[in-house]
Amino acid sequence: MTSEKLAVVVLAAGQGTRFKSARPKVLHEVAGKSMLDHVLDAAATLAPERIVVVLGPGMEAVAEAARARGGNLHIAIQEQRLGTGDAVASARPALAGYLGPGDAGPEAGSEAGGDILVAFGDTPLLTAETLQAMVTARRAPGAPELLCAAFRPDDPAHYGRVVRGPDGTLEKIVEYADASAAEREIGLCNGGMLLGDGAVLMSLVAQLGNDNAKGEYYLTDVFALARAAGHRAGIAEADPDEVMGVNSRAELAVAEALMQVRLRARVMAEGATLVDPTTVWLSADTVLGRDVTIQPNVYFGPGVTVGDGVEIRAFSHLEGATMAAGATVGPFARLRPGAVLGAGARVGNFVEVKNATLGAGAKANHLTYLGDAEVGAAANIGAGTITCNYDGLAKHRTEIGEGAFIGSNTALVAPVTVGAGAIVGAGSTITRDVPAGAVSTARGAQKDREGGAARLRERHRQRRDRSSGDEKQS
Ligand code: UD1
Ligand code: CA
Repeated sequence: MTSEKLAVVVLAAGQGTRFKSARPKVLHEVAGKSMLDHVLDAAATLAPERIVVVLGPGMEAVAEAARARGGNLHIAIQEQRLGTGDAVASARPALAGYLGPGDAGPEAGSEAGGDILVAFGDTPLLTAETLQAMVTARRAPGAPELLCAAFRPDDPAHYGRVVRGPDGTLEKIVEYADASAAEREIGLCNGGMLLGDGAVLMSLVAQLGNDNAKGEYYLTDVFALARAAGHRAGIAEADPDEVMGVNSRAELAVAEALMQVRLRARVMAEGATLVDPTTVWLSADTVLGRDVTIQPNVYFGPGVTVGDGVEIRAFSHLEGATMAAGATVGPFARLRPGAVLGAGARVGNFVEVKNATLGAGAKANHLTYLGDAEVGAAANIGAGTITCNYDGLAKHRTEIGEGAFIGSNTALVAPVTVGAGAIVGAGSTITRDVPAGAVSTARGAQKDREGGAARLRERHRQRRDRSSGDEKQS
């Protein structure tokens, strides 16, 4: 049985030049979540005692995003991009306590030593299950000191090749650039993740050289060094999709497509009906209840939670929104952050809701903007209602009481309150609070001139005749 103590090292010092982006590569998103967060979330499921993220100098935005996660996370800086082996070496100061006997780090305590898992920051499809399987393999009795995650891609392309000895054990990994023609024929490739005894790994990393085709310190050379030093190295098989590294925007799109397939399968397995799954875009954190129906062409941005039995009709755009059981949304609805729909509430076509709560059974069925508002249960918001929440300087709130009725084309100039059960006449511009139970109308008074239409038409006819007579004379 090997050590239960685990540190995870995530390599992310690469510039991602092929992205041609002002944003560091690992902060680009898949399913609304950064690639780095995908990897760190998968790693976090192993409950490691420490996580070290290796970054290049000046990658402050990434450091900030990583630190924002809190917890036992350390940032290590790789001064120069000298290869994956050098990247792991630069994590050494942050790995005190994992380096074995003689490791006098401040956190070493009495039990120096532990396992280290190395993963890459640009493999967003990595799953907790695969990482867990590696840990399980490593903790089995008689497990090898070092494990490499190997996979068989359809096209081995430029991946490092896994060379095995006659007994089937891992002999070495040869980088594509250094591989012989025969080695390039090998279909088993290095997926990038490595798990091993911290003391063994870090002592081998310290011995790495860079006498190779790229002049880099290859992390993968630790396997041959391990063999030579009498250690055992083994293989844990990984799914080809999971270890896919994202190096360009085209690969980002491929990863996104694979992730969407995975997320759709998940929500369907949990009891949601996707009428046309390929047209529904989900975020990594989308939560759908049972018997939810999603019509075609619906977008779920980050932070959406949907209760049981909710129906989301076609072409709706949702983010940061919560819908209680039985609510109906769309078609063509937009729920922005802070939209909260109570049980059975209805939001119809061309309705935008932002930072607003609709109570149970409340309805806003057509052409409406509800921003910074609280709508009571069973209230009915007529077509074309606008909460005028912004006066050009600050945002203000609108409160609409339970069971209130807002007539069509009403402007509610916030801050304003419409009391429970009140009725507001269509076309009103409401600038003062409406008392509960009142009927309020605020619009220009109507004038009716009896017979005026016929007189108006006659005047118009005479004017037209006069002007056509003028034209003939000229
Ligand atoms: C690496 C492996 C290769 C494997 C492949 C799987 C090595 C030498 N090769 O190749 O066997 O098949 O991944 O995808 O390890 N990084 C740093 N600092 C560096 C260099 C890299 O932090 O100096 C980081 C990168 O940001 C990236 C990761 O390490 O997240 C992998 O580096 P990359 O250059 O993409 O390695 P590959 O050439 O793809
Ligand atoms: Ca790569």
